[in-house]
Amino acid sequence: MTKLSVNINKIATLRNSRGGNNPDVKKTAMDVQIFGADGVTVHPRPDERHIRYADVRAIKPIITTEFNIEGNCREQKFIDLVLEVKPHQVTLVPDAEGQLTSDHGWNTIEHQQYLKDTIAVFKNAGIRVSIFVDPVVEMVEGAATTGTDRIELYTEEYARKFATGQKEEAIAPYMAAAEKARELGLGLNAGHDLDRHNLSWFSKHIPYLDEVSIGHALICDALYFGLENTIQMYKRCLLP
Ligand code: PXP
Repeated sequence: MTKLSVNINKIATLRNSRGGNNPDVKKTAMDVQIFGADGVTVHPRPDERHIRYADVRAIKPIITTEFNIEGNCREQKFIDLVLEVKPHQVTLVPDAEGQLTSDHGWNTIEHQQYLKDTIAVFKNAGIRVSIFVDPVVEMVEGAATTGTDRIELYTEEYARKFATGQKEEAIAPYMAAAEKARELGLGLNAGHDLDRHNLSWFSKHIPYLDEVSIGHALICDALYFGLENTIQMYKRCLLP
């Protein structure tokens, strides 16, 4: 069964907009797990405009499911935080400085040596590693020789095409990339712009997906349906 990891960065964005501690990010992390999420994801950025480094430290002790920290491993501050907090999984994203949101996967061929060295640092600390990758078979092959445990397929393009009704075209490159990952023994995650409309189609075509991490759409839906209902809706999208 594919796990649902809820990215709670948007809760921190809302809190930061007014100062104070409302909504309470730590309580949200606790509640999403009570409401059925299989994991909590955070994406600290150097400017701390969403989740702060202190939030990440505060959340770790209340995790009863799986903790996934994603971010830019070119920042030494990020590496230090992950090694200190020791989440279940770190997802390495090739963000540029000041980027609004992640918008591309690693070039696993060009950055092969860098990825090997960086992944080894986390794996030596007993942390499972996933790297963000575009749905391109060559990039999946490149990922397989870096030592990563998993890849996370970047699903923005899938979501964009799906929204225009091109469902088959949308899913095709992801099925090919997922098949290659499976063949090469890599675990498989996916994320970015997944929502309650496009998630079932993705999940049905890639049934051996280990985990999806979803933030923006899920938190937006929670405004209308409530957090508990929304998490259950997304979980239903992942049913076989
Ligand atoms: N995966 C990665 C690597 C991301 O950077 C993000 C956005 O922070 C997500 C998944 C979640 O994307 P969304 O907020 O669109 O669900």
